[in-house]
Formats: sequence, structure tokens, C-alpha cells
Amino acid sequence: MGNHLRGNNGPRLRQARESGAPYVHIAVERLTPAIGAEITGVDLRAALDPPVVDELRRALAEYSVIFLRDQDITPQQHLAFGRLWGALHVHPAAPHVPGLPELMVIRADQDSPRANGEGWHSDVSCDPQPPMGSILHLTQCPPNGGDTLFASMVAAYDALSERLKTYLDGMRAVHDGEHVYRGMYANMGVADKPAYPRAEHPVVRTHPVTGRKALYVNRGFTTHLLDVPRDESAGLLAYLFEHMENPLWQVRFRWRTHSIAFWDNRCVQHCAMWDYWPQTRMGHRVTIRGDIPV
Ligand code: SIN
Repeated sequence: MGNHLRGNNGPRLRQARESGAPYVHIAVERLTPAIGAEITGVDLRAALDPPVVDELRRALAEYSVIFLRDQDITPQQHLAFGRLWGALHVHPAAPHVPGLPELMVIRADQDSPRANGEGWHSDVSCDPQPPMGSILHLTQCPPNGGDTLFASMVAAYDALSERLKTYLDGMRAVHDGEHVYRGMYANMGVADKPAYPRAEHPVVRTHPVTGRKALYVNRGFTTHLLDVPRDESAGLLAYLFEHMENPLWQVRFRWRTHSIAFWDNRCVQHCAMWDYWPQTRMGHRVTIRGDIPV
């Protein structure tokens, strides 16, 4: 194989960092070197013992997104699981289950003009305090398709050259919800708000639990870098967006009814595949409030 056909990313990919401590209350199967683990031995219909929650917390920190199967939970059990991690976030635009503002509706069917989360993004990064994590439970899946891709922004950051890391150090970017959310949920009967959130965040953020650095710009919300000319911002963001989407640091999750994905928005981007039209895919998302990125 000629050099031009070989990628140059292999040596730059660092494995997700494991603590090395064994899991004794849950079973954890790592899915890729960079990101993702499937968890078994947990039943979210029952109250979870604190040691189980501690191990789930550790698994999320180690693998950035965790998956659980066969969790036939009620909306209340879903909300209760979310509250174990912190106060819940109310989405600034998306529809929710009537009477349950913290339970966001995820649905696409034959009448949908679009599906939620089709482009790479970190949830609601336009919020001044963007969500820490999101917990998606699907109650109906298409016979095939409808997978979600997750990418580790820690691995993406690690793989940058030292020169580029130095350049990005201290740089900030604007994240805007206006162009994303205005009119987005009209087909689901949701009226637009007068305004949507907009915030400035560091391009590289430090994860408050792991201390690891992660890229924190995304194609969905990030409009431009601050304090550089617009053409420099556009060129650099184009490079970063392409770099972040390298399959080397992705895991692709195939949903089944009552699967759950729990991802850490502080260090993960995701992208939902809308390849199943005219089939229906639906479920609910509970989103956990986060901190101001630093
Ligand atoms: C989202 O929360 O962005 C949607 C993800 C999905 O539907 O898989």
C-alpha cells in the first residue's frame, strides 16, 4: 500500500483512560479503544444501590458514553435515573411530554421533515451552562437504521499536533441556538420562542471529573472563533469539524427497543442517522444540567 493510502492517525489515537479498578457491581464491556462501553447487570426499574451508581459514574467517566439494553422503564423511572446525576435541564426549544417538561420527545416518522440530532453536535452547547449529560431511551425503533454515532472529543483533542494545541489554548468560540432552533419543531406543533440561547465557550475545555482536555466546538452550534479574522475562524473550524468526525474516535450504537444511551456532553459529540424514513423511531431524552465550561 502506498503511503498516500495509509491514514496517519493510528499512532495518534490514545485509548480511553481506565482507572484499572475492577467493577464488582456492574459488568462493563468496552466497545472501542477510544469511546463507549456496554453495561449489564443493572435494572433501572428498581432503586439503584449507591455502589452501583458509583460504578456507573466511573464507567461514564472512563468511556464517555455508556449503553444499557432491555430497560423497559416508565417516564418517572427515566426521570428518577436522570436525577441521580444532578438537576435536570429543560430544553429551550424541543417538545416534551405533556406535564413533564424535563422529558424531551424524540420522534421521527413518515411525516417528519427532519429528525432530531442529525448533524454532529454536543447537546444545547449554545446554553451558557450546557448540559452535562443526556440519557436517551428509545421506545420504538425502525427495523434497521436509526443508529447514533458518538465521538470522543478527548481522543480528537489528544490527536491534534502540539502546535495546534498551543494555538487553540485560551481561544473562545460563539455557540448560537438561533439558526438551529428557529422553526425546528414547527411540525410537532411547537411555537418559536422570542429568542434562543447564545454563549461563548472555550474551544478546549477541561473535564471537571477526569481533568482531561476535550475539543468543545461543534458543527451544529459553533458559528465562529473569537479574536481572529472571520476567514481564519472559518478555515480552522472547517479543519476541526473534519478532524472531530474521524471514525477512529467513534462508536456507532445500534438501538433496540428499550435501549438506553447515556453520554457525557462535556467530552462527546453525537450524530443521529435519519436513514429509516418512512419508518418511525421514537423515545424520550432526559438531560442533566451542567457547569460553565472552563
Ligand atoms: C439527540 O439527542 O441529539 C438525538 C440522538 C438520537 O436520536 O439518537
